[in-house]
Amino acid sequence: MSNATQGFAYEEALLFELSRPGRRGVDLPALDVPDVDAKQLLGEAFRAEPADLPQLSEVDVVRHFTRLSTWNAAVDLGLYPLGSCTMKYNPKINERVARLPGFAWAHPHSPAERVQGLLQLCHELERSLAEISGMDRVSLQPAAGAQGELAGIMMIRAYHEHRGERRHKVLIPDSAHGTNPASAALNGYDVVSVPSGSDGLLHPEAVEEVMADDVAALMITNPNTLGLFETHIGRICEIVHSGGGLVYGDGANLNALLGRGRPGDLGIDVMHFNLHKTFSTPHGGGGPGSGPVGVKSILEPFLPVPVVAQAEDGSLEWDEDRPLTIGRLHGNHGNVGMLVRAHAYILSLGPEGLRRCADMAVLNANYLLARLRGAFHVPYDGAVMHECVLSDRELAATGVTTLDVAKRLIDHGYHPPTIYFPLVVAGALMIEPTESESREGLDRFVETLLDIVREAHEEPEKVRSAPNRTRLARLDETRAARKPVLRWQPEDV
Ligand SMILES: Cc1ncc(COP(=O)(O)O)c(C=O)c1O
Repeated sequence: MSNATQGFAYEEALLFELSRPGRRGVDLPALDVPDVDAKQLLGEAFRAEPADLPQLSEVDVVRHFTRLSTWNAAVDLGLYPLGSCTMKYNPKINERVARLPGFAWAHPHSPAERVQGLLQLCHELERSLAEISGMDRVSLQPAAGAQGELAGIMMIRAYHEHRGERRHKVLIPDSAHGTNPASAALNGYDVVSVPSGSDGLLHPEAVEEVMADDVAALMITNPNTLGLFETHIGRICEIVHSGGGLVYGDGANLNALLGRGRPGDLGIDVMHFNLHKTFSTPHGGGGPGSGPVGVKSILEPFLPVPVVAQAEDGSLEWDEDRPLTIGRLHGNHGNVGMLVRAHAYILSLGPEGLRRCADMAVLNANYLLARLRGAFHVPYDGAVMHECVLSDRELAATGVTTLDVAKRLIDHGYHPPTIYFPLVVAGALMIEPTESESREGLDRFVETLLDIVREAHEEPEKVRSAPNRTRLARLDETRAARKPVLRWQPEDV
């Protein structure tokens, strides 16, 4: 039985109705302060009735939360092939380092002289990211890739405004992630969608056709969301630059390039890094993210404040005195826990390890593609980078769709891949194995997908009704996302 299904046998044990009046899980020490009259102290705020909380023994509570934790799909439980999201393994060494008290307890407003170690880490991480990407400066402030994008486009806007230029368009390929047009629109730009070619790539001619002197920037993801390397990137950057525009690089897929290619060398002027995708910091679950933004020197004056700077005596300090800055995005250090983990990852792998990480990510994606080709339709065939996109076209006659395949994977203990994205592929299944998986792990995943395809032909209802082994079957996904019920309430409320 897979980890994901072990908990289901205990369903009845999960109910809060296990509560029994007077049952307790805590043993408080004797009162060692004056016994004041709480009612008198609190006045109207004093509760007339005790709160209706579950009353349970310690062992019941521990079992409840431990069991709940196994209901979450997690990269520590198995392959998490979410394309474009890069759910790579989070090494435990990162966790140990992030718990060091000097990092874990630093207050965002600690004076610089009290947190020199932390500033040193920020400084070194900034230098590593600049070196890896070919950028000149990096701000560690943004709290997610999307906020890095927002900051990047704000800097592009500030740059053009500073030069007295009024440009109001941003060019974005049709395969882009939704945060790209969102970042452009939030900065007041009109988005011009540029069609990719039949090979899934952006072509210089398509950019030439829409490039004009009111274009502020082109945003491009490389490798793109089809997992394909944009081979015309150099020429495309030239076209945009010669028209006075800048090129924003969506760095979400940097995993594929580590140590092999640098966006800055390809012509990118500004880019974000998703530390949680490329540099192994924990991802998802609503926890803190981090999306540093790197720039070429022409954009440096516009970086968010504060930036780490070296004082004359060699110590590090926060520099806020930057007249052209786009402003502040976050508390001084950004999401520090994530920065520490990313730095630990970079140092523990070193340049050779980072290169190997990209090589393995690419090899794994191509291995999956080679084994799944035939069973699934491959819309843009050929070698891929770190992820591959398939579609459900071969299953059309069975009535089984991408959504059904994704749901059936849950029955086998796998988190589904990204589905129905990128939008340029109907019925897309976007799979990113990452570098962390072994050959055996990849083979197990492939065999499971091939079994599902077999089932689709022989017993399609089994796939269409999946998941069959979870506590809840198919949810109304929109309501589950928009109006999640996150709190238990007694049934009669
Ligand atoms: C290509 C691409 N760009 C940008 C983002 C946004 O990054 P974040 O989730 O860190 O906000 C994502 C997220 O999945 C992405 O896949």
